[in-house]
Amino acid sequence: DKGPYPYYMLKEVDEQPNVMRKLASIYTEETGKDNLDPEMIDAIKNADRIHIVGAGTSYHAGLVGKKMFEKLTHIPTEVHVASEFAYDDPLLTKNPFFIFLSQSGETADSREVLVNVNARGFKSLTITNVANSTLSREANYTLLLHAGPEISVASTKAYTAQIAVEAILAKSVGVAKEQVIAEDFDVRQQLGLAATGMQAIIDEKDEIEKLAKEYFVNATRAFYIGRGIDQTVSLEAALKLKEISYVQAEGFASGELKHGTIALIEEGTPVVGIITQVKTAGLTRSNLQETLSRGANILTIVRSGLSKEDDTIVVPDIDEMITPLLSVIPAQLLAYYTSLNKGLDVDRPRNLAKSVTVE
Ligand code: F6R
Repeated sequence: DKGPYPYYMLKEVDEQPNVMRKLASIYTEETGKDNLDPEMIDAIKNADRIHIVGAGTSYHAGLVGKKMFEKLTHIPTEVHVASEFAYDDPLLTKNPFFIFLSQSGETADSREVLVNVNARGFKSLTITNVANSTLSREANYTLLLHAGPEISVASTKAYTAQIAVEAILAKSVGVAKEQVIAEDFDVRQQLGLAATGMQAIIDEKDEIEKLAKEYFVNATRAFYIGRGIDQTVSLEAALKLKEISYVQAEGFASGELKHGTIALIEEGTPVVGIITQVKTAGLTRSNLQETLSRGANILTIVRSGLSKEDDTIVVPDIDEMITPLLSVIPAQLLAYYTSLNKGLDVDRPRNLAKSVTVE
């Protein structure tokens, strides 16, 4: 039931702070310990590679996961688009561990990979929102997203829940490997900060609607740009805008624009810079200036510690590893309000189904 909401998507965006709190309380303890299956943690700890497999938004959550796993566990981690990996015949190491990310747990492309993984005897974990789904039944281990049913075709709370569960898991494996950086990462506290930070952004939704009307409703194309983890969020932000508002959008590595793609910038093209990382903030700002001087209408989504006077949307401070939990929220809302103000069916965009059970 949507209750007072015009569309499920807005309800699901609004639910995200609670999902963060729920995941912190289900999977972590006040003592700093977690209650994940020790046998599973051991299996990941002993792996020489982690492979994360997903499609669409789940793939984008995997890109964020890679950064956390490598930082907190020091295990080399690769992320794969399921439909590509299934037929790639990839070169594998001796002891890989596979993590499947899937909201529905039914995506055929991901299942095709899991069938191969099982045939070769490799260990796997499915992180999913649906208990007893195909992918959770067929993997060795399962973790639930506890996000509640996601009805809108555009995935929102599953993305942030996947990132939160990856953070909890990466910390746990890192601690098992006695990595100091993992021991110092207080994931329970950070998820609490994520919850309050999300709420603060959601409380500004009327402002975000104004921006959607001003910048996107009449646009034919748009760009989200960033570097590193911000680049991965730019992909998700662009996907949201494309799928529900039909604005052709690209998520792009901000430094790569000048190698060709900047030719697409014309008078009025909206370009959103995502800026949450100390190391790359200045660089992305200069890349934004490059688009501005070609006529772009620029906006910024900036982490508060890095913000400047004329930034458009400032998101609260949080550990640099999990900034996507906050930087994605304005992008979800911009996509939502663009679709809404174009009079489209936000929850049921054309050509799409909620779960994709064909390859
Ligand atoms: C985008 C979206 C899709 C799904 C993809 C994978 O908003 O919802 O890109 O993320 O089809 O679905 P799951 O996560 O169910 O495997």
